[in-house]
Amino acid sequence: MDIQKLQRFNSAYVGDFPFLKDLVSEWAQTRPLEGIRILHNIPLTRETMLKLEPLYLGGADVTVTHLDLPGLEPKPECVNLLEEAGATLELNHRRISGTFDIALDCCAQVPAMENVRIERGYVELTQSGTPVYSNLETDLPIYSLDLSKLKCLEGMFGTGEACVRALKQFVTPDLKDRKIVLFGYGKVGRGIARYLSAEGANLTVVDIRDDYLESAASAGFSALRSTRSPELLDAINGSYAVIFATGFSGLLQSLFSPSEINDDVLLVNMGADDEFGDDYPPERVVANKAPLNFLLDSPTTMFFIDPIFTAHNRCCENILSGGTQGFSALPAELDLPLVNAWSQRYGIDVSDIYF
Ligand SMILES: NC(=O)c1ccc[n+]([C@@H]2O[C@H](COP(=O)([O-])OP(=O)(O)OC[C@H]3O[C@@H](n4cnc5c(N)ncnc54)[C@H](O)[C@@H]3O)[C@@H](O)[C@H]2O)c1
Repeated sequence: MDIQKLQRFNSAYVGDFPFLKDLVSEWAQTRPLEGIRILHNIPLTRETMLKLEPLYLGGADVTVTHLDLPGLEPKPECVNLLEEAGATLELNHRRISGTFDIALDCCAQVPAMENVRIERGYVELTQSGTPVYSNLETDLPIYSLDLSKLKCLEGMFGTGEACVRALKQFVTPDLKDRKIVLFGYGKVGRGIARYLSAEGANLTVVDIRDDYLESAASAGFSALRSTRSPELLDAINGSYAVIFATGFSGLLQSLFSPSEINDDVLLVNMGADDEFGDDYPPERVVANKAPLNFLLDSPTTMFFIDPIFTAHNRCCENILSGGTQGFSALPAELDLPLVNAWSQRYGIDVSDIYF
């Protein structure tokens, strides 16, 4: 692997990422991952290239792949660069085989790889991986970054901003007074609501949790329970777009069939699953069911995703030092200290993430 090629590519990146930069300087000196075999499975984007650099400089033997989701393509310039640099890259999950020390995973796809064995531990990046990893029978450490306030920071700021940026770039430049139904008022949903309301959209929030529906109502949004009801169907059919951010696979199909939803209602995915179900063909959904922000050159701005990418990498050290057995949250020393450092560095009030 020609690390200098990757470094030249990364040096052209425009954006601020102090946490990963610190990791690069530190790990280039200390080499804590010398010879450690890492299987890296997250969406392959320009930002991911910045995340890979400290892993290589830390001495890791990295196999890079790309998150396997409908409609989600790796960024071609990243694939080309990694190939030119001689990185170990395999985009087809079925062709990945062998023994690795650590899986840096997203959506719990590594445990489903039949010919892959992980010997030291797993780090899961997102909510959609939680059901699999929390039930995985292993004594190896598994860190779920979803169980952290740091992940709220990404969702409520980064993903929300990215969703609205993508809607404006690919769907409509003017969101003012548009009726939008939003499924899910968790980390990602609240972020989307925050940025959509700043655009003047007219929002209806749908969730299964009464306390979340109450907080949506007190934030000034209409709120409806996620159940098969005439009110919900009317809200959907009276809307410009319906956005999904629940992590619940096949949710729309479980409530309404495609024939019940008006053809002119845009269906948008922001979750990391197919939240529509097989009854809804990919072409019925904007971006063929891919999370909409992944159409952007920067699916989540580095400014927002830098701390969580850093934490994902840093968990390797926790695993190598023995780690906690089984499924657990992001280690505390990587959670609030990073949230606070980010908030102080940029002078941004993050109190909304404590819900
Ligand atoms: N597009 C991106 O860049 C991006 C970034 C981070 C996370 N994600 C994905 O977004 C999805 C949501 O993640 P999150 O972190 O907000 O999760 P979360 O657990 O914080 O929130 C999910 C919300 O959905 C609600 N919900 C669950 N089942 C529901 C149902 N049947 N109907 C309506 N609401 C329901 C929950 O009550 C909760 O409020 C996941 O798939 C996650 O992996 C995407």
